Amino acid sequence: MKATAAASANIALIKYWGKRDENEKTPLNTSISLTLDSSFSCTTTVEFSEKANEDSFSLNRKEQRGEALARVKEFLEAVRGMAGISEKARVSSVMNFPAGVGIASSAAGFAALAAASGRAAGLDLSPSELSSLARQGSGSASRSVFGGFVKWSGESAEPLFPESHWPEIVDVVFLITKKKKSISSREGMRMTAETSRAFRKRLGVVEGRARKLEQAIEKRNFERLAELTMEEAEEFLECLRDTKPSLNYLEPLSHEAAKRIRELNKNGIKAAYTFDAGPTAHIITLRENLESVLNALKPLQLTNPGTEVRVSGLGQGARLVSRHIF
Ligand code: DP6
Repeated sequence: MKATAAASANIALIKYWGKRDENEKTPLNTSISLTLDSSFSCTTTVEFSEKANEDSFSLNRKEQRGEALARVKEFLEAVRGMAGISEKARVSSVMNFPAGVGIASSAAGFAALAAASGRAAGLDLSPSELSSLARQGSGSASRSVFGGFVKWSGESAEPLFPESHWPEIVDVVFLITKKKKSISSREGMRMTAETSRAFRKRLGVVEGRARKLEQAIEKRNFERLAELTMEEAEEFLECLRDTKPSLNYLEPLSHEAAKRIRELNKNGIKAAYTFDAGPTAHIITLRENLESVLNALKPLQLTNPGTEVRVSGLGQGARLVSRHIF
């Protein structure tokens, strides 16, 4: 059977960085994210068929090999195991944003793959089961199964509040380079957990910060959300610096963007910056402050051709769609 699903990337305000169990891919700490809208989405068609001799995976119409194909195959093995089938699959994904630069492409990718392959294999999974399945592809993908504000601390993520709870929130995504990172999140977080003292300290405070953020979201207290988001971003960067050998996913321009936001906030908090494991700066703000944020970033954009700003509102979780890619 053939099925197609779409899912969006998400941006973590409280980061998942470190696994409790490498095989189970459960996280060491609670993370909280915003699911982005369809301007950062991945659409995937999966077909299991007796005619297929091997699993295949194409991304943006380009046949994938090596690590990318291996991760998809491993995921399909898990789906076949759950469904009790043995047919190989053809997987085709189309992504409308660059991969591997700090916009959670694996989150959108594996959330869409979970929804499409689950249906194509004849499984009838609940949202929580779907989230747990997506987690096996990539931890952060467990959150992209749900829309709006999402929390993840164990086997599966859970929706905190839907998009409609706070529709004024936007992520101004400042794309700095399309060059892929050299150390994956998977490898990077393992290195940090093994070698960083700052990381061990973080584990003692991050749960409290997650609870405070949840309250700020519940009350729609933007100033509080922004403070906690930046505190978390700085702590995440500190843990990367403190990793041995030290990790640096950012570019000078990423730091420049954060500086512009700190300057903008001098007369009252208007926005918060955060980063994933990549140079892309995510500026979280309210629609009423969008123009000020865009103006703050404009000089950087003008002097650095190749950079791009894309604005995303909150979006929905993974969903089946009727239009197949093949
Ligand atoms: C910095 O979910 O890509 O984006 O589970 O090993 O596939 P694996 O890692 P992944 O890590 C995401 C890390 C992050 C923070 C976050 O999204 O919470």
